[in-house]
Amino acid sequence: MTAEIIDGKATANQIKEELKPAIEELKNKGIIPGLAAVLLGEDPASQTYVAMKERACERLGINSFVHHLSESTTESELLALVEKLNADDKVHGILVQLPVPDHIDSNKILDSIVQAKDVDGFSADSLGKIMSGREHFVPATPLGIMVLLDRYGIDPSGKHAVIVGRSNIVGKPLANLLMQKKKGANATVTICHSRTPDISVHTRQADILIAAIGVPKYIKPDMVKPGAVVIDVGINSVDDPTAKRGYRLVGDVDFEAVKEVAGAITPVPGGVGPMTIAMLMSNVVKAAEKSGL
Ligand code: GUN
Repeated sequence: MTAEIIDGKATANQIKEELKPAIEELKNKGIIPGLAAVLLGEDPASQTYVAMKERACERLGINSFVHHLSESTTESELLALVEKLNADDKVHGILVQLPVPDHIDSNKILDSIVQAKDVDGFSADSLGKIMSGREHFVPATPLGIMVLLDRYGIDPSGKHAVIVGRSNIVGKPLANLLMQKKKGANATVTICHSRTPDISVHTRQADILIAAIGVPKYIKPDMVKPGAVVIDVGINSVDDPTAKRGYRLVGDVDFEAVKEVAGAITPVPGGVGPMTIAMLMSNVVKAAEKSGL
């Protein structure tokens, strides 16, 4: 039996469609939601992500202000830009694309974004609110995963969710969301990472397995319990001379093999990635709505 395919692209399109009336309503009040994206340097993946966010904004009628700065931008210059955006009434959400160059303290920058505009939810305040169950802006990727589970009728309650990856932007916030004492959560959560011995012992126990490690095709069928829900957060570019661009995107899960074992699975592309963009748009609209209160 092959797994049900969890179609993130279709769900993301649905969510963006559902945002349109709210955006119209804001416009009727004279508010055009605005997202400022700050990108440092020329990392191709980061440039692609920012371009995708910009395109999503344009399609929804959200203002997009992209600030593409040089790799050598100093921390104080970047802080000054964030301060300016914090004070700009046309900007309702601010995101600083990560990673930033090594000479910049990313935490200092993320914490300088005012709470009302922290649509990525990466500041210490935002992450602390998630941990204590007082959600403000939830980072888009974990939020997208929670929404996908909900829309596919997968209730984490009482299930064992195993997350492979402990990043501040996916693994840690997602663990907190899944373990909250509330509807759509209540999971038992295990986090594995690069220093976990014999990861497959843990992954094989997962009713819901989330792979967010950034290693192409890391999760193999023998690491998956038959019938498990498998969520693939990975976006890895691998060389492929037969592809038009010379590369193709693969996830952290060996999709073709694992879909024969799993009960449901997200593809790459077309799974978690589009949900991340849709939930960012949703956070920007929410920020704009709150600004008008
Ligand atoms: N780098 C990788 N993912 C993300 C994201 O969702 N937001 C930002 N700002 N940077 C990232």
